[in-house]
Amino acid sequence: MRPVLEVRELGFAYGNGVLFRGVSFALARGEALAVLGPSGSGKTTLLHLLAGLLPLQEGEVFWEGEAIRDLGEARLAPRRLRFLGLVFQHHFLFPELTALENVLAPGYLAGRVDKAWALSLLARLGLKERAHFLPQRLSGGRGNGWPWPGPST
Ligand SMILES: Nc1ncnc2c1ncn2[C@@H]1O[C@H](COP(=O)(O)OP(=O)(O)OP(=O)(O)O)[C@@H](O)[C@H]1O
Ligand SMILES: [Mg+2]
Repeated sequence: MRPVLEVRELGFAYGNGVLFRGVSFALARGEALAVLGPSGSGKTTLLHLLAGLLPLQEGEVFWEGEAIRDLGEARLAPRRLRFLGLVFQHHFLFPELTALENVLAPGYLAGRVDKAWALSLLARLGLKERAHFLPQRLSGGRGNGWPWPGPST
């Protein structure tokens, strides 16, 4: 079966500092992979490359068999919306939307809004009673998510 996500010989450097080279793996549907490494080793950078949020340097990334290198942002963005979910290190919630509206936001863009499903996800996280709270009223929420954890107030 074709891998859902595949990476071949990925390498990346900020300026002259090579972070990693020769990273290759393939993930089948339902498989899980944990990337472990010390702070600064490049985990976030790797995820951003997999998501097409950073321009590729060495190597290739394939989404369901398709190389993303030459897609360009106009074609990449709608595919990313349907193909990929990314939990960012900093949460980047929309500060003016409630918890429920934040969960629903990608669905609005994709034309699939399922409020019951979104509420069930919040319930699984113990946030059912706070579905209509703004992020600033949720623990860890500081509006735009940056800086995090931010200055104590
Ligand atoms: N935009 C950037 N420009 C230059 N260097 C960067 C940039 N972003 C990250 N770096 C550097 O690249 C290295 C890897 O950063 P990255 O954030 O990918 O690491 P990480 O493994 O996610 O770390 P952490 O566990 O602390 O989240 C670090 O040394 C970081 O300072
Ligand atoms: Mg990181």
